[in-house]
Amino acid sequence: MTCTNLTDTAAARILERINFLAGHSETPSGLTRRYLTPEHAAANQTVAQWMKEAGMAVETDSVGNVIGRYEGLRPELGSILVGSHLDSVPDGGRFDGTLGVITAIECVRQLYQTGRKLRHSVEIIGFGDEEGARFHTAFLGSRGFIGDLDPEVLKICDDKGTSLAQAMGQFQLDPTQINQNPKVPGDIACYLELHIEQGPVLQHHDLPVGIVSAIYGQTRAKIQLTGQTEHAGTVPMAVRRDALAGAAQTVLEIEAICNSYSDVGVLGTVGQIIPHPGASNVIAGSCSLTLDLRAPDDDNRQRVLETIEKRLEKLASQRGLQSSLTVVYNNEAVQCTPRLTKLISEAVSTLGVQPLSLGSGAGHDAVIMSSITDVGMIFVRCRDGISHSPDEFVSVEDLEAGFRLLQTTLELVSQSSR
Ligand code: GLV
Ligand code: MN
Ligand code: MN
Repeated sequence: MTCTNLTDTAAARILERINFLAGHSETPSGLTRRYLTPEHAAANQTVAQWMKEAGMAVETDSVGNVIGRYEGLRPELGSILVGSHLDSVPDGGRFDGTLGVITAIECVRQLYQTGRKLRHSVEIIGFGDEEGARFHTAFLGSRGFIGDLDPEVLKICDDKGTSLAQAMGQFQLDPTQINQNPKVPGDIACYLELHIEQGPVLQHHDLPVGIVSAIYGQTRAKIQLTGQTEHAGTVPMAVRRDALAGAAQTVLEIEAICNSYSDVGVLGTVGQIIPHPGASNVIAGSCSLTLDLRAPDDDNRQRVLETIEKRLEKLASQRGLQSSLTVVYNNEAVQCTPRLTKLISEAVSTLGVQPLSLGSGAGHDAVIMSSITDVGMIFVRCRDGISHSPDEFVSVEDLEAGFRLLQTTLELVSQSSR
């Protein structure tokens, strides 16, 4: 499927739409679009409109994912589901997630404009939550889509104390229906995702696109330290039970532990510390921290988690603090489906680009989708490997290469799949 005359405008349209969607942000500088916020609703509405203009039937599912369907010649084959997420981290970049959804819409738009259909129906999904930026647990969108959310998750609160159940209500969703999505086995033939690389490997190899071989496992946890809230000017240093000082030591201990496992690719991050009550003249009586742990190997990740738990207990008792570590999300490492990585490699070759396979330290919706179907992923180079930052950037040339690769991949996958 080469549409050279239209391709010239595809990358420009993709960029224009990404810039437009970046306007649906809670913050004016970097993109902040968290799950079930008014900005998420606005993004869904805009994306739904673009899907309709591309000849798709559109619905929003029970957890707020937006889904468009372009009927194929043989719908009984199941659909090729293509997508990524529409949420962002706070003050993040505009390409992370959004690029995969918008590029997929452009592929279908070109099929529609040229009056073509693939053998398979194509469904495009914009997942509502991948980052976990609001409720600090990842993949609520894709987990809801496959009907794998524990109803207990509805009780999780955001930093303002709004529960997931309340947030769903505010988004006109029924929290009792979280796992009531219409898909049954066989509905989906496979899942494809195009995403920015978020690292520097493609840039290093001077390649616009690459093929994802596997996605690291990850654990997210909440650490709580409790001491005593007291006056900053009256309590001697030796008798304080300062939860924030304990948190500072915890961060450095986690860094040291992960450094000692860096040869096997373990990555550990404390991305948020919230001291309570959080005033300059008050010793913090409690403090919560987030932990994000990733590794290509699941045993190493588990070993590091256990080491962190032990060190945390020790440092807390040395400081007269109470501690807890609660795992709020966990997924094992995922291998992309060899049949699909092979087809993507073939598609890369047709672009005249050298096929390069690489692992992903970043999590992706494909992780969750891999539990119900085959998954394949495409990476697009981003400047200096920077993401989760307003500096995230993809050149128009690389947008074009990503678009052409996804277009060709869809064609090859549909031709070759039963
Ligand atoms: C998502 O970008 C993640 O890997 O946390
Ligand atoms: Mn991200
Ligand atoms: Mn992402």
